[in-house]
Amino acid sequence: MTKRDLRTVIDLNRDELLTVFQLAAEMKENPLQFSKALEGKTMAMINEKQSLRTKVTFEAGIQQLGGYAVYLTNQDINLGKREPVKDIARNLSRWVDLVAARVYKQATVMELAKYSSIPVINALSDEGHPCQAMADLFTIWDFVKKREELRGFNLTFIGDGNNVCNSLILIAGLLGFHLTVCTPAGYEPNPTMTWQGREMSHDWGGAITFELDPVKAVAGADAIYTDVWTSMGQEEETEKRREVFKPYQVNEALLEKAPKHAVVMHCLPAHRGEEITDGVMESERSVVFEQAENRLHTQKALMKFLVDASN
Ligand code: CP
Ligand code: NVA
Repeated sequence: MTKRDLRTVIDLNRDELLTVFQLAAEMKENPLQFSKALEGKTMAMINEKQSLRTKVTFEAGIQQLGGYAVYLTNQDINLGKREPVKDIARNLSRWVDLVAARVYKQATVMELAKYSSIPVINALSDEGHPCQAMADLFTIWDFVKKREELRGFNLTFIGDGNNVCNSLILIAGLLGFHLTVCTPAGYEPNPTMTWQGREMSHDWGGAITFELDPVKAVAGADAIYTDVWTSMGQEEETEKRREVFKPYQVNEALLEKAPKHAVVMHCLPAHRGEEITDGVMESERSVVFEQAENRLHTQKALMKFLVDASN
């Protein structure tokens, strides 16, 4: 059997993704039942960027399954400079059972996966954040309870068409729900992923549409999602981005234009006063901490799924 990775959302097929959701639901319900699910397994975490949620949910997650994580920062390994990525991959493969990598370039994830004989998980790159998208759709799946109902779900993404948006596009295609993307011109998501998402959505009855006007974009939304305007690594563009994205803030006035039941989602960390207001973050419509909690359950299920599928 060959090993399995999560380099991008579509390394899993639709049935496998739903299997991970089912397992995550069981783990959420009965965590103690899985306390030996990855007994004796070790994961190396490679991190070129900062993290709260990803670090803690992977570390706590593997420990709750009976395993252990080794967290490596650039201070430790100086990725790609001290030695080639392909050598790091082959070293780690001799010592541990899983790798999770948060890196600047998707190419680094691809190279790690290519040269590792163990599963490699993309823990965020410039192109995607598949673990985030999985937790987000698990959160929605949890609300709607039945997989069929995801098909009619309307998710609106407002803001920067970056890594999180790209992964939402792919998962929209895979699960067949309707995603509306609303970004300023010049900040659209990755065109290849948009094409891939659209191709898949034809098969599963979903749709990926673009809308320039935030008010129109939220009009039929069941959930409204935003991400920071300035992602990690883009700090020098902060001022320019604050201007460009101003009309795309998720605030109380915009929520007035959305259906009353629409919830608000954010991958976090949030920059209150930029992409989202403090009032919306703190409102009853915000499910951001459910999403954050579900990072734990879905990644535990993902780790178990990948290890089992690779044995
Ligand atoms: N959403 C997310 O990945 O959070 P961190 O950057 O804190 O890991
Ligand atoms: N787009 C953000 C997501 C953080 C979880 C970033 O890349 O910084």
